[in-house]
Amino acid sequence: MKAVICTGYGTPEVLQIQEVPTPTPKDNEVLIRIIATAVNSGEVRIRKPDPKFFVKLMLGWNKPKYPILGVVFSGEIVQVWKDVTKFKVGDQVFGNTDMTFGTYAEYRCMKEDDALAIKPESLSHAEAAVIPFGGTTALAFLRKAWLQSGHKILIYGASGAVGTAAVQIAKSLWAHVTGVCSTANVDMVKSLGADEVIDYTKENFSENGIIYDIIMDSVGKMSLTDATKSLSEDGILVLNSAMPGDMIHGLWLSMTSKRKVVMWGFTLTAELMTYLKWLIETGKLRPVIDRTYTLDQIQEAHAYVEKWHKSGNVVVEIS
Ligand SMILES: NC(=O)c1ccc[n+]([C@@H]2O[C@H](COP(=O)([O-])OP(=O)(O)OC[C@H]3O[C@@H](n4cnc5c(N)ncnc54)[C@H](OP(=O)(O)O)[C@@H]3O)[C@@H](O)[C@H]2O)c1
Repeated sequence: MKAVICTGYGTPEVLQIQEVPTPTPKDNEVLIRIIATAVNSGEVRIRKPDPKFFVKLMLGWNKPKYPILGVVFSGEIVQVWKDVTKFKVGDQVFGNTDMTFGTYAEYRCMKEDDALAIKPESLSHAEAAVIPFGGTTALAFLRKAWLQSGHKILIYGASGAVGTAAVQIAKSLWAHVTGVCSTANVDMVKSLGADEVIDYTKENFSENGIIYDIIMDSVGKMSLTDATKSLSEDGILVLNSAMPGDMIHGLWLSMTSKRKVVMWGFTLTAELMTYLKWLIETGKLRPVIDRTYTLDQIQEAHAYVEKWHKSGNVVVEIS
């Protein structure tokens, strides 16, 4: 099969298309023909790598130990192992392979209990492929923050993959949502249902005196000093993109006040995918797509995502 191999750490040129053996399913696995994937900030961080020491320690010192990057996909099941009961050949599915990657390729095996679900019929494969990165992250972190109806939440970086999903999921829970993004994305974030949108190029949200129950920094660009000014005394700060400095700041904040800080990772489950499918089918969540590339254009796709200003998501069509 055709796959993109990350031949080392560095610029997008380290990503090379090569022929590799097609995987075969075993135990309770299914084989999926991937029709679309996406380039996400996470894979760009690994390819660079950023932060260098942490990525190399976790994922391979000289080059990524999982050479085929990519975590999300939408496609069709083409083979099932005898123990599989939940899926059958021909099922249209979407999912997230998490830290085992492997979706910049024509085929990928998944266990039937992994973060895998039947694709919503209303979405194309390109649209479905972009949901499981930002969608699972936003859903898992908003659950960790116990977001509830009537809460006032500020979502910083509301125009990215995680942010666009977070705005919609928070609205589906009847929260009062304020999104923060740049001028170019204001209308898009409003169209997702945000009650208020603050353009960070014109206004610093921490200077308007409004206090929030939950503040979520979905892109890791927010000043934690600003967040502290605008968070209620027992509010929750969500840092799904925390770098080591933010983690120390966050830990200090939670130790020295009644505020809680939610960070680190989360467990990807089939239930998260099923819940996202339900949100889509009930009209509460829709994908936001900025650009679409082909697998042969993977270097261009990475270079674009690395600019850190994509609106929503970048699709890669495979077949
Ligand atoms: N903890 C986890 O398990 C987990 C899982 C997934 C992702 N993450 C992390 O979550 C972060 C977000 O991922 P993502 O894929 O959503 O990112 P993304 O889509 O690549 O973010 C792009 C967005 O960031 C916005 N942005 C850039 N600079 C900004 C600034 N100074 N202030 C406000 N917004 C700014 C841009 O909006 P404008 O153009 O309007 O500025 C753009 O829409 C990443 O750091 C990723 O590593 C963590």
